[in-house]
Formats: sequence, structure tokens, C-alpha cells
Amino acid sequence: MSDVPSRRGFLRGGVGALGAALLVPRAAAEPDVRIAPAAPAPVAPAASPAGFSESAAVRVTVNGTPHALRLGGGEAALDVMRERLGLTGAKRGCGHGACGACTVLVDGAPHASCLLPGVALHGRSVTTIEAVGGADLHPVQRAFLAEDGLQCGYCTPGFVVSAVAFHDAWRAKHAGARPSAAEVADALEGNLCRCGAHPRILAAVARACAGEFDAPSTVSPVRVDAVAKVTGRARYTTDVKLDGQLEGLILRSPHGSATLTALDVDALRAAPGVKAVVAYVNVGGVVRFAGQEVLAVAAVDRAAGLAAIEGARITWTPATPVVGMVAARAAGATPVFATKKALDTAPSAAEGAVFPGALAGNLRGPVRLPFARVAQVEERFAVARTSGTTYKETFSAHSQCHTTLEPHAAVARWLDGGLEVWVSTQSVHDLAVDLSEHYALPTGAVRVHAEYVGAGFGAKVGMQMESRVACDLAKLAGAPVRVVLDRAAEIAVAGVRPGAEFEIELGATADGALAALRGVAYGDGGVSVGSSVAVLARLVYDSPYKDLVDYDVLSNAPPVKPFRGPGGPAALWALEQAVDAIAWKRGEDPVALRRRWTPHAGRQRLYDWVDTLPAWKERAREVGADKGRYRRGFGFATGVWMPMVQTGVEVRLEASRDGIVAASACQDTGNGSKSVVAYAVAETLGIAPDRVRVRFGDSADPASCASSGSRTAVSMGPAAEEAASELHAALVAVAEDRLGLRDAVAAPGGVKHAAGFVSVADLLAASPPITVTGRRRRDPGGYYLPFAASGLRFFDETPAAAQVTEVELDTRTGIVRARRSWTGISAGRIKVPQMARTQVEGAVVQGVSYALYEERRLDPATGRTLTADLETYRIAGLADAPEMDVHFDEGGFEGVLGNGIGLSEAATVAVAASIGNALYHATGQRPTRLPLRPDSFLEVRS
Ligand code: FES
Repeated sequence: MSDVPSRRGFLRGGVGALGAALLVPRAAAEPDVRIAPAAPAPVAPAASPAGFSESAAVRVTVNGTPHALRLGGGEAALDVMRERLGLTGAKRGCGHGACGACTVLVDGAPHASCLLPGVALHGRSVTTIEAVGGADLHPVQRAFLAEDGLQCGYCTPGFVVSAVAFHDAWRAKHAGARPSAAEVADALEGNLCRCGAHPRILAAVARACAGEFDAPSTVSPVRVDAVAKVTGRARYTTDVKLDGQLEGLILRSPHGSATLTALDVDALRAAPGVKAVVAYVNVGGVVRFAGQEVLAVAAVDRAAGLAAIEGARITWTPATPVVGMVAARAAGATPVFATKKALDTAPSAAEGAVFPGALAGNLRGPVRLPFARVAQVEERFAVARTSGTTYKETFSAHSQCHTTLEPHAAVARWLDGGLEVWVSTQSVHDLAVDLSEHYALPTGAVRVHAEYVGAGFGAKVGMQMESRVACDLAKLAGAPVRVVLDRAAEIAVAGVRPGAEFEIELGATADGALAALRGVAYGDGGVSVGSSVAVLARLVYDSPYKDLVDYDVLSNAPPVKPFRGPGGPAALWALEQAVDAIAWKRGEDPVALRRRWTPHAGRQRLYDWVDTLPAWKERAREVGADKGRYRRGFGFATGVWMPMVQTGVEVRLEASRDGIVAASACQDTGNGSKSVVAYAVAETLGIAPDRVRVRFGDSADPASCASSGSRTAVSMGPAAEEAASELHAALVAVAEDRLGLRDAVAAPGGVKHAAGFVSVADLLAASPPITVTGRRRRDPGGYYLPFAASGLRFFDETPAAAQVTEVELDTRTGIVRARRSWTGISAGRIKVPQMARTQVEGAVVQGVSYALYEERRLDPATGRTLTADLETYRIAGLADAPEMDVHFDEGGFEGVLGNGIGLSEAATVAVAASIGNALYHATGQRPTRLPLRPDSFLEVRS
């Protein structure tokens, strides 16, 4: 490990090294904290943070500019940068020093500014991302651009600042040596990335440290919006500050089940600094989960809002909540929804339609697709039991929180006859429609902005509560209102993948054909309905003999939301381990077995690729081959996802002598959709992608799709290509009509004519502005269903992943590590390979994190979320990412416009199952419960 000073530990708790230094006499300060010699002591030495509770006059130099400020004792350094000085590059991610998004340099050393008292900056010099690099950028920033070390970019300023400090220290000590991935991961341990850009970040920092990006000319950004992200210029919803803006704070239920018996709204309205109050639960109303929105206040600042809701006079009659699926299904359990009518108010957990289901106690279902050959399934199992192979097991999967690094956030203001909202959303266009319906406004009277979005993963589709609260409060207050969820609310209520229990039975015939598949899944969706797990198992293998049934188990837990490949990881955790078990029982290679069960050409090619992997070929052919403390194993699993597209979406090109702008009411959540559009336009015109500026995130632009379900690239790319073709045709007309050129035809980069060639830039210079619009057309190959469902069309051919993972189990501690990962993707043509690789790697990191590290836990007595911060809710850090290899099979999908389809979900759904299969290979024990905590394997002895 590195001997460069590391921030290990101090960002993960406490007040940070500088804060600690300032809380004790200077003599006890850590030696690596440089203190300006002339600086007066900022405050009297104190024994506790209470020493910073008083307001104080502070002189601080920020990015070279001296400031004299009067700061309140409760103001964090991050608030000083963002709210006082308007430097929004440092982000508030967690608010408790765990994620590092707020990292700034204080006297040259990186610090989590959310924990650092503002008054502690007295006499210090602070450098924020805005001052890193200058016009040519710092080598670390250039490396991030070249390696595509980012997705949504919300973590990026913090990573860059930390990495710059490490880079500079490393270079000073090691000259041009390249640090190992472990050394970089160790140094950046205080920074988290939820999108999973881990391998790219590690590579970028290592290469920058080795001096590969010292020359500015070495930079070639992969992603069109990357420069804005590495410089902190990208403006997210949390960065929006309008004149007269108020802060909206939400009072949430402390009870999992209770009746509101008294609430003094008048007292709240009269509280200091409060400008508006809106109630979401009335006296006599019930709450069904801890964290449910009860009321909200708009106040002059966050402190006044917090003080008001903390002092709210509110009385509850609590009931015993039903927490967990065991309690919910127990005989005599209190129904969470007493009637089917009450259940109609339940939130949806589904990405699309919720299938109808009967209600019995807290069990809703069964939901079974109509074309199952149920009668023949048991007959085939009977035969398989006698002459073939069967496997039956109950698998369980935990609840996983989306916990996007940019929290759910909205800023709303009412205008004459209209509403304008900035919001962190995955569906700019759809949200504008939802808001206009909700507030009975004419279409077009609502404008939604989301220029940059700090990821979503399914939790930010449609109208979420923060939008509603911001709009309600802004209307009442007559002023703009910003609502930003804190990390506790983000984890508890803003987005959770449902847990599941899946009883699965799989049978093979004597000759190894798939005989039948049967399963019953119980979705742990809290108060919401429509979580689907078993139905996803239908997608993977071809057989009509499947009987798959889903139930919702209702409880007093927060509602769940779709999360990247909704239902998929839990479904495949069971199915792909069952397939593996059948293969082992038959003594057969697990890939060979799947080959017979899957005729799809793309998957067959992926299996060919797996069979060529040296590590896979050379693996032990028996289980438990390692006998020492550390046991290694290899696991394979297939992932698939629903192949969908949204037709009718549009891209408008505004071309002039100033350049080409591609506009759409789409959004880039880190999935690279802006780059997909830029590359599509550029490729069609034959120009460089950086010649195309993409304007996303404005609902006033042409209608677009939501970014969920791996639909964005396949929907937007062809629309952009059509727009570019129209522009090219218009430029041919310019050549002929304005320039008088004969025999003009479109050619790469411009127009060929009888006398030569004229470039796109020259044609635009000779033309008045041109505006053309491209539309996503029907696909030539047609669709699986003859009609659109929720605006979506589904293809016959499914995108697939072949996932091989190598794990290592420490039998003494029970800790499992994913060491290496190989992911093959069959999704047709890949338009931006480097960005697609980043996307796949992120999907694998999230899959590893899901399997090994994350788990939402509730208090069984109250229903409150116990893991409501990024210390107790652990997501994979840089050091947890396996080495990765990504392979694209670009064949197939000829019936799809552009010959390619979304890959983001397929790439993540099989990761946990491959880890389960690898652990079986390593130990001979089949894991059935997720997550794979250390106690799962403590019985394996060396
Ligand atoms: Fe790191 Fe999104 S790119 S959190």
C-alpha cells in the first residue's frame, strides 16, 4: 500500500483531520495538516464541537480570493462554499463525510467540507474544484476525460480534488512511477461513486500519476459533457439558486403505523422564518410507514425549516407496525390495507402496468401471466423426477437502496399561469405532463429543467414527492422553493429495490433438455404493489412449460421503486443458481447446458466467447478444490433483459454558423445519452462529435422518453440519425441553391459537387439557420406485441449478458471478494464502445455491491430504517471492484433501427447469481440468501 498520506478513516467519520485539529490544542494537531503560520487561532481551543456553536467573523482565502464573512456556528464549510460564495462544484452527497462528494483542499489537504465547521476555516486557504486545473485542466482531469472515469458526474468533483492531492504528493515522491490500483483505491477510500465508474477512476488516476496526461494535447474526451463534470461546472438541481428562494423541509412520520391525532399547523406557520406550511396527512389520517411525508414547511433557510419541524406540535396514536415478510404473512397479522379499496391508494412498484391481484390479509396475488401451460408443468416434473434431474430451493434477496449520489431534489417557482421546475429526474418530458395534469395546467404551461442529473437507477421516474412538495410550497409561499432530501430520507424512502423470496423448482429431462420451470415469488415491497420477480425468470430460457407466480407481501415499510433491471437480480439469483445446480447434478459444464436451453444466436456466440476465456477453461472441475484458508471459485450466469424502445421521440437540430445544437426533452442521468445523440449526428454528417452540442433537460424541447429500462439509446439514436440526415439534405440544397454548385450530393463531412467539396461548417456559414426534426420510427423487424404497452414497444430478440465471476472466500472471516469479472454483452451494434464499456463496468460494480455489501435493515419494532446513512448502508468502494474484462458481441438485432439495443440492465442482473455459483464452486455450499454477509460462510472451515 501507498506511503503517501492517505485519508483512510477520517472521511468515514468524525469531523475530519482539520476539524479534529481545531477541536484540540494546536500542539496535538496531526503533522500532515499544514497551518498557515500567520493565521490567528480561529477559535478558542475546545474539547467538543460545541466550541463551534457560536457565530464568528472568519477570514478565509478561497481559490485565491480573500473573504471576510460572519458565519453561524452551524454552517459547514460546504455551505459556505455553496450558499455564501456560489461555488457549487463541491456537492452535498451524504452530509456525514462518507461519500467525499464535498471534498475541497484546505491548505492543500483534502477534507470533507460537509463535516468541517465553517468557522474552522478562519485563516485557511481553500481550493475548490473551480480552481483546479485552469483552462488546460489538471492532468488528473484530463485522465478522467480520456478514461471516461465518470458517468452522472455528481461524485466527480470530489474524486478529482482528492485525486489531485494524491497525484501531486505521489509525483513529488515517486516521479513517473505508476501506482497500483490498490494504492489508488487506498488513497481515495473516502470517495464513493454510486454509478460504478470504479475501474475507470482507478485507471485514470494511475495513468495521471504516471505522467501520461502531462501534455494538454493528450486529451480526447469520450463523453460530450465530461469537461463540465470534471471542472465542477455541470449544474445539477441541487445547485439551483433562484432569487428569493426558500428551503422546503419535510416532516416525516416517526412511526411505521399510526394515526395522526393532533397537529398545530397555525403554530408551525408562526414559527420564525417559516413562510408556508402544507400538510399531507390530516388529523385522523393514518401513516403506513416510517418516513412517510406528513407535512412540509418552506422557510427562509434550512436551519429555520429544521427548527420549525423539530418544534412541531404533533400527536400520534401509534399502532404496532407489520415489519418484514414473516410478520406480514403470519396468521392474524394486521392487514396493512384493510380493504381492496384502500389498496387502490397503494403506490406502484412497477416500471409499467401493475397486474391485478386478489387481496388476502397482506398477500396480494397471485399474478400469473395467462399463457402458462400450468397443467403440463406438473406432468413434466413427474417425469423429470423419475428419469431426469430436478432441483428445488427457496432463495431470498434483500432490499437494496438506490441511494443516488445526487439526492432527490426539486426547485419550483410559479409564474403567471405557469410552473417552472428544476428537478433531478429520469423523465423530463413525462414529468412535465404529470405536473400539468396534477395541477390542472394547460399542456405547455409547465416547464421542467434537468440539465445534469446525478443518476437515478429507476428511483427518479415520474412525479416524485420532492417535486410535489416544492410545487405545493412554492404556490403557497409565492416564492421559489427548493427541496433536497437528506441522505437518511434518500435511503429510507426515496428508492428501494424490493426484497424477495423465490421458491423455485427446475427440471431437466434425461437427455438434459429443459423439462419445466416452476416458481412462486413473494415481493417485499412495503406499502407498494406490483413488484415482479418470478415473471422475469420467464425471459431466460425457451420452454412453454413454465408456471411462474408473483405475490406482493404488504407491510409497514416504505414503498419500493424499480431499480436497474427490476426483479431481475432476485429472479436470476434463484434461476441461474438452479440451472447451475442442475448442471452439477448432471456432471455437465454449466455453459454447455445453457447452450441447449437457449437457441438465440447472440447468446450462443457469448457462450463461445466464455469457452475461450483462459481462466474459465483452467478452473477446477470439481467443487471445493481449494483447501486452505482462502477458497477461490468461478461462477457463470446468464443475464437477459426486456428489449424495449419508445417510438415517436424526437430530436431537433438547430444548425447555424454558430454550430449545431441537438435538442430534446431527454435527460442524461450518466447513461451517456447526450453522447449517443452527439455521436449519431456526427457519424451521419461525417463530422467530429465535439462539433455537436447537445441540449437535454428542457421540457420545452421536442418530446422524448424516460431514461429507464435500457430504452434511451435505442430510442434516441435513430431519431438523431434521422434529424442529421435531414440536415444533410438541407445542406445539399444550400450548396445547390445558395452557392450554385452543380451535382451536389451528401458526403462525409459536407457536400460533394461537380467542382469539389464543401464542408458542413462552410455550408452553414453560407446559410440562414436551419432547423430540422428527426423522429424515432417503427423498426423494420416489427415487435413482439402488436400494440404499445405504456408507450413502449418490445422486440423479439433479447439483449443478453454472459457473466463469469471469480470470487475468493476467506474462511476465517467469512468475507467474500469478487476478484475478477468477465462480462460478454449481446446487444447489437455498440455506437460508443468506450462509454458502453463504462456502462457495463458500472453495472457489474452495482451487481457486486448488491451481492456482497448492501442491505437495507428496518427496526422490527418501529419500522424505521436502521441503515439510513452511507456508513451503515455500505456501497462498494473503489477497492471492492473486481478486475474487469468486457466483451461486446455486435451481431444480431438486424430488425432494430441502428442495429443495437440497450445493455445497462442485462449487464447487472446476473452478477449476484454468478457470485453465488462461484461460491458453490469454491465451497460446495449453495448460498441461498442475499446479501452474502460474512456469517453466510463462517461454517466453511479451512
Ligand atoms: Fe460517480 Fe455518478 S459518476 S456517482
